[in-house]
Amino acid sequence: MNILAIESSCDETSAAVITNGEIRSNVVATQLIHTLYGGVVPELASRAHQQHILPVVDKALNDAKVTKKGLDAIAFTRGPGLLGALLVGTSFAKSMALGLGIPLIEVNHMQAHVLAHFISDPKPAFPFLCLTVSGGHTQIVKVLSPLDMEIIGETRDDAVGEAFDKTAKLLDLPYPGGPLIDKYAAEGNPGAYAFPLPEMPGLDFSFSGIKTSFMYFLQKQVRENPAFVSENLPDICASIQFTLVNILLKKLKKAARETGIKEIAIAGGVSANSGLRKSLLELGQTLNWNVYIPAFEYCTDNAAMIAIAAHYKYLESDFCDQTVSPLARMDF
Ligand code: KG4
Ligand code: ZN
Repeated sequence: MNILAIESSCDETSAAVITNGEIRSNVVATQLIHTLYGGVVPELASRAHQQHILPVVDKALNDAKVTKKGLDAIAFTRGPGLLGALLVGTSFAKSMALGLGIPLIEVNHMQAHVLAHFISDPKPAFPFLCLTVSGGHTQIVKVLSPLDMEIIGETRDDAVGEAFDKTAKLLDLPYPGGPLIDKYAAEGNPGAYAFPLPEMPGLDFSFSGIKTSFMYFLQKQVRENPAFVSENLPDICASIQFTLVNILLKKLKKAARETGIKEIAIAGGVSANSGLRKSLLELGQTLNWNVYIPAFEYCTDNAAMIAIAAHYKYLESDFCDQTVSPLARMDF
């Protein structure tokens, strides 16, 4: 059983082929144009998806040595994401499925990030908790089975990836700044500067206040010493990363305590962060958790995760019809 999966929710055009639950190819074209503007420009993202989608799909089929006629279904990211970007993947998948006379499978992008854990071993046992952290979302998800998930905590304002990227912008680092904060943090002292952690009820998060604290802190320091950022970049990055990771892990710890679940996973672009990966492994050892961290290639947006989600949906004959339209916001 061969499924072609397409991801186009933000600034990565990706296609993958999965055969009987095994990923055969995963092609990702990253849109570098956004670096010029310090963030993703939605209209440019849509246009770049249009340029990339044919060659990316073609390469995914060639790499997998599967022909169009050999496909059993086409899957696509329906949402959440940028509407114009989603439209490109959705229209492409719909017309291809219609042309080939095969079923169409819609996939929730955030569920797919969680299911990236089922691409290779070791796989978490059910039920498990997944901290799903990306540029647009910050969620704690209770996963009961591949297609049965419940969001038990989420951000009330900005996502943690946005906090990384916007703070990086204040430091004059290019977009996306998250990986660069990670890089400079490796040589810095995480205790150099302290920031107050936000107080949020329950398992929810907030990152807008801490983003503002970083901004006021930097403005004050630069007023006193204009070279403050260039002289202290590693310490600044390490302290910011330490704070953001602490906010995430504090709530994850609370969620594990309240649910009694010790199978703990992370997913999404920010799960590539080395500070988060290291601190989670340490915490897992202390609290006797089984910790699951995805391979780097499956942390940031990719179609392999859409393909594995589609695999489970195919097994349940969970298909959608040709009138389906993309959704910028999409709940589980
Ligand atoms: O999942 P993703 O590729 O796209 C969305 O669905 O949003 O996540 C992108 C986010 C960006 O905010 C990016 O800065 C962040 O993931 N990111 C990182 C790292 N790698 C990617 N943040 C911190 N450290 C990293 N190493
Ligand atoms: Zn994502």
